[in-house]
Amino acid sequence: MSSQSGSILLLGGTGKVASRIAPLLHAAGVPFLLASRAGSAPNGYTGVKFDWEDESTWEPIFATPISAVYLVSPRRDAQDTMKKFVDLALSKGARRFVLLGASLVEEGGQMFGKVHTYLRELGEAGKIGWAVLRPTWFHENFLHDHAPDIRKENKIYSSTGSGKIPWVSAEDIAAVAFHVLTAAQAPNTDYLILGPELLTHADLAEIFTSALGRKITHVDLTESELAERWTSLGLPAEFSAALASLDTAVRHGSEERTSDDVRRITGREPKRFRDFVEENKDTWAQD
Ligand SMILES: NC(=O)c1ccc[n+]([C@@H]2O[C@H](COP(=O)([O-])OP(=O)(O)OC[C@H]3O[C@@H](n4cnc5c(N)ncnc54)[C@H](OP(=O)(O)O)[C@@H]3O)[C@@H](O)[C@H]2O)c1
Repeated sequence: MSSQSGSILLLGGTGKVASRIAPLLHAAGVPFLLASRAGSAPNGYTGVKFDWEDESTWEPIFATPISAVYLVSPRRDAQDTMKKFVDLALSKGARRFVLLGASLVEEGGQMFGKVHTYLRELGEAGKIGWAVLRPTWFHENFLHDHAPDIRKENKIYSSTGSGKIPWVSAEDIAAVAFHVLTAAQAPNTDYLILGPELLTHADLAEIFTSALGRKITHVDLTESELAERWTSLGLPAEFSAALASLDTAVRHGSEERTSDDVRRITGREPKRFRDFVEENKDTWAQD
């Protein structure tokens, strides 16, 4: 299904990926709305208020015609809520949906796997064009969630053991998202968005050590220790447990794979973790 006229709605507009899709759309002259709970937007972009928990924020967004929606799940299982929003957007004329999924979440699985199924079914019924982006773990987690551990303690915590991950840059995910949101035809499929190298958390610690010039150590926790840690940092208990269980999956090799989707779709090689660290060294400088 080809894209219609109207703006692209980017949910999770302050998030790691949508904030990197926005400049690509801006540079290409494609109109878009950046949605967040605050409703504000940087760089003169148009911001709109959107809260998954407050349905009164949903309908006003469609005062501007929306042709395509980039969907980011909230930090809990919200599949029915997300499907309800897809139905609303469809009734208002949106005809393309791109879901930010995860490499570990198969179609039909937890968190947003049933939203994936729903998009495919709507696509097969000829109602929408769609794509599901299934990235592995983001480099940029180290700019946000994990940055204080490195800055203050020189430590990286996980319960992934010697499990390897093909760490990927949010810039590469955004580049793929830009393509599938703006291409004349939607791909109507999912993509595994993976980086170029399989690295353990101990490998990452070595990369940080060499780039920052001080010893950074990986601390391998148990799954329950990691869940408690996420809860102590303010995440809901259920979400903390789900996140920690992903580490256990990695420990058992669930992420040990590569894919050429980034190169195939963007025409460039995905960014290496060590280049990401070099570019952002100041983030982890000690006070
Ligand atoms: N990080 C990773 O390594 C990774 C790997 C694979 C897949 N993923 C998937 O990617 C998605 C983003 O993950 P992330 O943790 O890295 O998040 P993130 O980039 O930090 O973005 C989370 C976004 O959700 C928005 N948000 C939170 N609560 C909201 C609510 N109630 N209503 C509307 N928006 C809300 C936040 O915006 P405001 O607070 O400004 O409203 C923020 O923009 C998740 O679905 C995750 O499963 C992440």
